[in-house]
Amino acid sequence: MKEKIISILKEHKNKFVSGEEISNLLGVSRTSIWKVLKQLKASGYNIESAPKKGYKLLDDKNIYSKEEITLLLKSKGSNVEEVFYFDSINSTNEYAKEIGRNSNMENVLVISDIQTDGKGRLGRKWLSSESSGVWMSLLLKPNLNPTDASKITQIASAAIVTAIEEFYNLNVGIKWPNDIIINGKKIAGVLTEMNSELGEINFIVVGIGINVNTKSFPEEISDIASSLFLESGLEIDRKKIIEKVIYYFYKFYNEYIKNKEFNEVLDINKKKSVTLNRDVFIIRRNETFEAYAYDLNRDGELMVRDKDGKESVVFYGEVSI
Ligand code: BTN
Repeated sequence: MKEKIISILKEHKNKFVSGEEISNLLGVSRTSIWKVLKQLKASGYNIESAPKKGYKLLDDKNIYSKEEITLLLKSKGSNVEEVFYFDSINSTNEYAKEIGRNSNMENVLVISDIQTDGKGRLGRKWLSSESSGVWMSLLLKPNLNPTDASKITQIASAAIVTAIEEFYNLNVGIKWPNDIIINGKKIAGVLTEMNSELGEINFIVVGIGINVNTKSFPEEISDIASSLFLESGLEIDRKKIIEKVIYYFYKFYNEYIKNKEFNEVLDINKKKSVTLNRDVFIIRRNETFEAYAYDLNRDGELMVRDKDGKESVVFYGEVSI
């Protein structure tokens, strides 16, 4: 009902709409409507009420909530079927995996304003403080071979870069396969987790963290981490970033799932790569080796040449540039 009332108020933005009209439109009592309006005011909506005239929505900017995100995605015809929103949670990936394990739902988006235990790749922590970034996870159930799951990370990286470049005049790079870099510092990352059996994916959770409006970072990471705000001076409503990233994600994802077409994603990953055409260090469990990264193959895997001229393909691991 909250969502419906917000929609009605938005449709009449800056104009009064009477309690009776809302009540007739929704077929619920005026008392229930009054209660919801009270909650909406408490959560930050600037709603003016006047006797005999009703209610007028004055400002709904920067409200980060399930209803706002759902309405925005719906208005753009997104593939997301359900949004779970939290003010605070341990990790949106953990929550999305829980849904994946316990339900048949898919195309579910989990978002939290804060993560108390945000996870990065290779067991690292992902700083996820209040009102500063986009911390979200998509639950997917694609009919793919588990060996193709890494493409989902590259689809997400391509979506993040394309979305960011629509809002900011910034040169965004991808450090293969999942780090989004601006001016040498990381501003976003992707953590893809999979639950699978031999030859079959049960579900995939693609976790996306974007430092949007973060004003500062702890000293120990301030020379490697940054935010879109710090790099551009622009503060942007996080919902806009969510909408665009989700839009491009599904554009590329549907192309891949339906038509097995991965070329556009591959092109973006190549064009934006800060890893290619240079010497890199490949860090694996117990070894680090240096090699020249010369291309991505058609599956998006990193092709490297070592100092003896031996060529090999890197599927996983950390690449340091
Ligand atoms: C990385 O670069 O190491 C990956 C970072 C991924 C962070 C996101 S934030 C939303 C989602 N939930 C998590 O706990 N992690 C991912």
